[in-house]
This record gives sequence, structure tokens and C-alpha cells, in this order.
Amino acid sequence: MNNDFSDHLNRKLDEIKEMNLYKNERVLTTPQGSHIETEDGKKVLNFCSNNYIGFANNNDIKKAAVQGVEKWGFGLSSVRFICGTQSVHKQLEKDIASFTGCEDAILYAACFDANGGVFEPLFDENDAIISDELNHASIIDGIRLSKAKRVRYKHMDMEDLEKQLVEAKDSRFRIICTDGVFSMDGDIAPVDKIVELAEKYNALVMVDDSHATGYIGKTGRGSAEHCGVLGRVDIITTTFGKALGGASGGCICARKEIVEMLRQKSRPYLFSNTLAPAVAAASIEALSLLKKSNGNYSSDLKKKSDYFRGTMKGFGFDVPDGDTAIIPVMLYDEHLAVNIAENLYVNGIYVIPFSFPVVPKGKARIRVQISTEHSMEDINRLLEEFKNASQST
Ligand SMILES: Cc1ncc(COP(=O)(O)O)c(C=O)c1O
Repeated sequence: MNNDFSDHLNRKLDEIKEMNLYKNERVLTTPQGSHIETEDGKKVLNFCSNNYIGFANNNDIKKAAVQGVEKWGFGLSSVRFICGTQSVHKQLEKDIASFTGCEDAILYAACFDANGGVFEPLFDENDAIISDELNHASIIDGIRLSKAKRVRYKHMDMEDLEKQLVEAKDSRFRIICTDGVFSMDGDIAPVDKIVELAEKYNALVMVDDSHATGYIGKTGRGSAEHCGVLGRVDIITTTFGKALGGASGGCICARKEIVEMLRQKSRPYLFSNTLAPAVAAASIEALSLLKKSNGNYSSDLKKKSDYFRGTMKGFGFDVPDGDTAIIPVMLYDEHLAVNIAENLYVNGIYVIPFSFPVVPKGKARIRVQISTEHSMEDINRLLEEFKNASQST
């Protein structure tokens, strides 16, 4: 062991703590859900998971996972192209492709890997990737791994996007990339306007729907459905690790040729183990439940989110308008955000404060995430506790 290196790391860790950026992990002693228990024995109402439609502990999905283990075994011990493809993986690819309005799909161990592996095989120095400035870290990393020209446009600013498209007109191909739902602000990308601009400037569109798949759009098919352009987005990446059960796994949905090329060349696909078959089986069940629900999850979640948003505004809180279950309560001051979140936790409400560098300086907030699992009583309790905490902090 190199002691100099340990000393160096300890100094760096101290710096992170001094800057108040050290992330502590609270340990849960229960399954994920709206009511959870933490290691300190505290029972809390949970408003900070991505379990938007309560699938993380859904009985049908758990049953499908158990049956998946029994039928397909625990793991594949292989990448897909050697001996790691079972019919359950092919079925999930077919189901998620049709759910997102695409021709085909390819699975990854995580959406982080999907975003990391999507650009490099498809684009090179002759091409331009035009990316919303607030895109997820995995898109930023994926773009860095490719040799294409990197261009950023101002967050959801269509004028700036058009300017960048004009400037990139000499590139062989142009692709516009955006999160479908941005996780810190809960805003939905104007995918219809992006598709229009892409058609005008002969560009492709890539949308990461990790925070959208399962509940955004009338039937939960994501931001393209919400914006009325289902079937017109070239590449959709998404995760099975949030609304669709929350275990793990990601995918890229696209035209046949795009998926075929990724199977040949995408490094996180070629050089990483197959998604666990039980996760694939459970994800198939999640999609099937969603299809059968006919949009009930989306409408229930919208109703509950709108209620929380509207009542908070009535109380005088600064809460931006929005259509998602991600609701930032803007506090601006970092200490205030931390203190209110701590006060809420003491009173049995689990929410997370975010400050710089996760969000811009001076834009500290508490992010609330609503789930269909929350009852109106749960949401009313959250509202009441927010009011009390802000008065006493
Ligand atoms: C927008 C977005 N893309 C990708 C990911 C990564 O997804 P996964 O957890 O499947 O790696 C996340 C998760 O935080 C995300 O929010």
C-alpha cells in the first residue's frame, strides 16, 4: 500500500467535506417504497426516489423476477455475442422497442452504459453532436468518447439550437441530444420543436427518457408521446432502473440499422456482461402492466403532482410550473435548503436538498419526487410539514 497516495486521498476527502459536498448514504432496512425505514430505526415518508409508479416493490413484477430466476438461472456469465443472449433478452428488446415507438432495441447493463456507448460507434470527426447544456453526465461522457465535433446549446433554447444547427451545416451528420425530462428541474424537453428543427436541418434526434419512460405521455411512453412525436425520434435511450421497476438495466431504441451497428461496435455492449435474466423478465412484466393500465399511472401521477405543486404555490413557495413528478422547491440559499431538509427528516419526511455544483450557484432547492404510491394523505402530510419547517427554520 502506498501511504503517500492514501494521505493524498484523505486530504482530498477532507476538502470535499469542508466544501459541504460529501455525500452520506442513508441505509434503508426496508424495500423501496413511499413508506420506508432507515438504519437508525426511523420510519419516514419517502419523496426522493425515482419509483414514480410504485413498480420497485410491485408484487407482479417481483413474481416475474422470481420466475425469471427459476426459468433462466441467476446469471449468464457472458457478454451477449458469446453465449449471453437468451430469448428473454430478445423479448425485452422487442417489447421496449414497440413501447417507445421504435423499430428495434439493444440492452445494456445500465442507461449510463447505453449513453456511454451510443455515440462513438455511430459518429466520427466528420460529424457534429449538438447537446443541451444541462444534459445528464452520461450523455456528456458518451459524447467525450466519440471523435465528433462537440457543440452545446442553451438549455431548451430553440433559437440557440437553430443557430448551432446552422453553424454545423458543413458536418456530414448532425445529431441533437437532449434529456427527455431533466432530473433537477423536472422540465420536459420540447421534443416536437427539436424534431421540427432536425427535419429542417437534416439532423438526427437522440432523447434520453430515463426520467420519462413509464409515466410521461398519455400512456407513459415518454417525452415523444407527451410532445406528439412518437415514432419520429431517431434514438431513444432509457433505463429499467427508475419507473420500470428500479432494479437495473438500460437500452437504446432506434431504427434497425442503428441497433445493428451498435451490436457490432458499442463497447459497453460488447465488453460487459449480459443484463441479469430475472431483471429482463421483470422488465417485460413492467411493460406489460403499463400497457394494460391504459394510462392510469400517468393520469394518477399527474393529478397528485399537480396537487402538490398547486398547494405549495398557494402556501407561497417558489415552485416552477411543470408536468412531471419531479418538483423542485426553490430556496436559492444553500444553508436554508439543507436546514429545511434536515428539519423535514426529523419530522419523518425524506427529501434531498441540492446545491452547487449539482445545480447552478444560488439555485439551491429541495427536490420532491411524487409517486403513484403516495396517498393523498401522504402528500397532505408533506405539505403540512413543509409549511411547518419553513416557518421554524
Ligand atoms: C437522464 C439520465 N440518464 C441516464 C441515467 C443513468 O441511468 P442508469 O441508472 O440506468 O445507469 C440517469 C440516472 O441517474 C439519468 O437521470
